[in-house]
Amino acid sequence: MTPEDVQRLRHETPACGEIAHFDNAGASLMPNAVVHAVTGHLELERKFGGYEAAARATDRLQSFYTAIASLLGAEPEEIAFAENATRAWDMAVYALPLDEGDRILTHASEYRSNYLAFLHLAKQRGIQIDLIPSDESGQVDLDAIPKLLTPRTKILALTHVPMQDGLINPAEEAGEIAKNYGLTYVLDSCQAAGQLSFDVKKIGCHILTGTGRKFLRGPRGTGFLYMEKTLAEQLDPPFVDAQSAEWTGPQTYKLMPGARRFESFERNFAGMLGLTTAVDYALAIGLKPIEDRITALSHMFREKLAELPQVRLLDQGKKKSGIVTFEGLKTDAATIAAELREQNITVSVLTENQAWLDLQDRKLPALVRASVHYFNTEDEIDHFGKTLQAI
Ligand SMILES: Cc1ncc(COP(=O)(O)O)c(C=O)c1O
Repeated sequence: MTPEDVQRLRHETPACGEIAHFDNAGASLMPNAVVHAVTGHLELERKFGGYEAAARATDRLQSFYTAIASLLGAEPEEIAFAENATRAWDMAVYALPLDEGDRILTHASEYRSNYLAFLHLAKQRGIQIDLIPSDESGQVDLDAIPKLLTPRTKILALTHVPMQDGLINPAEEAGEIAKNYGLTYVLDSCQAAGQLSFDVKKIGCHILTGTGRKFLRGPRGTGFLYMEKTLAEQLDPPFVDAQSAEWTGPQTYKLMPGARRFESFERNFAGMLGLTTAVDYALAIGLKPIEDRITALSHMFREKLAELPQVRLLDQGKKKSGIVTFEGLKTDAATIAAELREQNITVSVLTENQAWLDLQDRKLPALVRASVHYFNTEDEIDHFGKTLQAI
């Protein structure tokens, strides 16, 4: 990505002129094209009503499936739209045939709502959760998996890029293990989609979820599900509606083919179009150039923070993402975030209760998360460092 490309991309995101946005892992800034896709459809709804507006946008709405499929290296029928990633994940995981005594393998970096769902399934259905330990770098220790396997182990559930740490879990290597041991592999790629270049078929996951508002730069309230087609055809969704099933006679119904059996009838059509545009926008830039730029910026960012005596970098893992985490040695995380906000720098604060398994173990009651995207600049990182130095 050339400096001219970055300038153009910043120009297409007017907020870049107002703030230094380092909360792309929370919600990124939408480019103009995405905002126009959303407001354009709302305009259409204002003029013609929601049903007619959707009818006029049929082709574009259908292109949601091809856009997400291209992003992931999947088939369009393996894709479902969802109102958020958590709902997509829940629809898929609650559909898995898990009975009392069945076991799930996961890791301390698993996203909180996913882990909450496992706790719920443990209570509701009597499943057992086994935690894979971390290796010396902090990422999931895949070598530890064989020792944890039992005849009842059914699922391997991982978070590709955790929200509370700078690490990237080895998703593709985990896919090999899932394949070798016949496990259903569920991958939460919410923080990876739009920042890393990856392919579901290479990873070998059966289920993958993503959200619109983070590195994909789409609107809030949008998400998606990938489900490998053979698995989708075997699963019964936890509940059905007029989108996921066809009412074929007074007492009969037929599930929709593929991943669409996990969708809901009513949805935010403007949001769906906004996410389609966001994915097209990312694909036009190229996921590899995006990943390379994020890697270079976050590397520079970590080097800058490492020079500051008043902060401690917290990122773990062999391979690092655009999420940069640190704590203040003299100032608490909330105060740091508030002071940065005063200088129009946006970050997030994460607290122990958002990632108990990970942060309690590491004795971190709170941390600051600064997440970079390709539109951030070296100057913004400099400004960040200088502001932090003065706190
Ligand atoms: C790793 C990860 N998974 C899942 C989610 C949930 O996404 P959504 O809010 O779209 O349900 C998040 C959101 O922060 C996340 O960071």
